[in-house]
Amino acid sequence: MTVLVTGGAGYIGSHVARLLAQRGEAVVIADDLSTGIPSRLEGAEHATLDLAAVDAVQSIRAIIRAHDVTSVIHLAARKKVGESVELPEWYYSQNIGGMANLLEAMKAEGVTRLVFSSSAATYGMPDVDFVAEDFNCKPINPYGETKLIGEWLGRAASKAWGLRAVNLRYFNVAGAGWDDLADTAVANLIPIAFAALKAGETPKVFGDDYATADGSCVRDYVHVLDLADAHLAALKYLERDDRTFDTFNVGTGTGSSVFEVLAEIKNATGIDFEPEVLPRRAGDPPYLCADVSRIKNELGWSASQDLASIVSSAWKAVASAK
Ligand code: WQD
Repeated sequence: MTVLVTGGAGYIGSHVARLLAQRGEAVVIADDLSTGIPSRLEGAEHATLDLAAVDAVQSIRAIIRAHDVTSVIHLAARKKVGESVELPEWYYSQNIGGMANLLEAMKAEGVTRLVFSSSAATYGMPDVDFVAEDFNCKPINPYGETKLIGEWLGRAASKAWGLRAVNLRYFNVAGAGWDDLADTAVANLIPIAFAALKAGETPKVFGDDYATADGSCVRDYVHVLDLADAHLAALKYLERDDRTFDTFNVGTGTGSSVFEVLAEIKNATGIDFEPEVLPRRAGDPPYLCADVSRIKNELGWSASQDLASIVSSAWKAVASAK
C-alpha cells in the first residue's frame, strides 16, 4: 500500500510526500531532479525518472512493482507560464506525454487511484471573482492548457479502464510546512518579493489601476501544508466506490490583493518599504479566487492557515536557508 508521488522533490511535492510519511503512509518519489532538489527527498524512497522519456512506461511499471504502489499523486510537470508560451511543444510533450506514460504504466499494473495536480490556470481569465469548478475553462497559456488536457486524459482513462481520478486545481500556493522546504523557485509574488528585499531592492507591483478595492490584483493564497493535506483528503475520497472522477478547487475562498500581501511581508520581515508600481503584466486577471464549497462539501476539507501564517512561514524558511 504505497503512494507514488511524482515530482516529490519539488516545493509542493515534497510537502505532500513528507506529510504522507508523517501520517504513516508508505511513499516512493519519482522525480527527474531537473528542478527538484535532492535534499528535499530526506531519506525517502525515490527514483530519478523523467516521465516523458521514451522508456518511461517500463521504468514506472518497475517502480510500481518494486514498491507495491496502489495509488499515485501526480505533480511532476513544467509549470512556468512564461516559459510555456515560448516552448509550447516542450510543455505538451513533458506535461501531457509524461502523464500519458504514467497512465499507461498504471493501467498495465492495475493501479487505479490518481490524484492529479491541476491548476487555477485552467480557468484563464474568468469574468467572475470566485470561480467554481463547473466554469467553462478557457486557459490563456500552454501551461494552463496542459493542465486542462491532463484532466481530460484522466477522465478518458476513468471511462476506458476504471481509473479513479481527482483533479486538484491549485490556486496561489505559498508558505512552508518545514523550514527546509522553502519555495526556492523565485517565480511567484511572495518569493519574488523576498528575493528583492534580500537583495536590498524594492518589491514591484504590476499595476495598481485594476477595478479592485486598492487597485492591485487579488488572488487566493493557500498554505502549501493545507494544500498537501487536501491531497490526503483526495486519496481518501477515491476509496469511495461511488466516485470515479472529480475536480476540486484548492484555495481558501478569500482574496488578498498584492498590496495586502506586501503589507504582510513588511510585518513578517520587519523591513519597511514602499512598493514600486509598474505597468500591468499581460495576462493577469484582476481577481481570481476559488469557490471552495465543493471541496468542503465532498471532501470535508477547508484551509486552516491565513495569509499572515503563509507569509511568516515562508519568510522563516527563506531566512533559515543556509
Ligand atoms: C500573483 C499576483 C501578479 C510578482 C499563478 C501561477 C501558478 C498557479 C496559480 C498553479 C499577480 C502580481 C507578481 C511581482 C506582482 N498555480 N505580482 N509583482 O499570476 O496568480 O499565477 O497562479 O499552477 O502558481 O500561474 O501568480 O505569483 O505570478 O502573481 O505584482 O513581483 O502578483 O501580477 O497579480 P499568478 P503570481
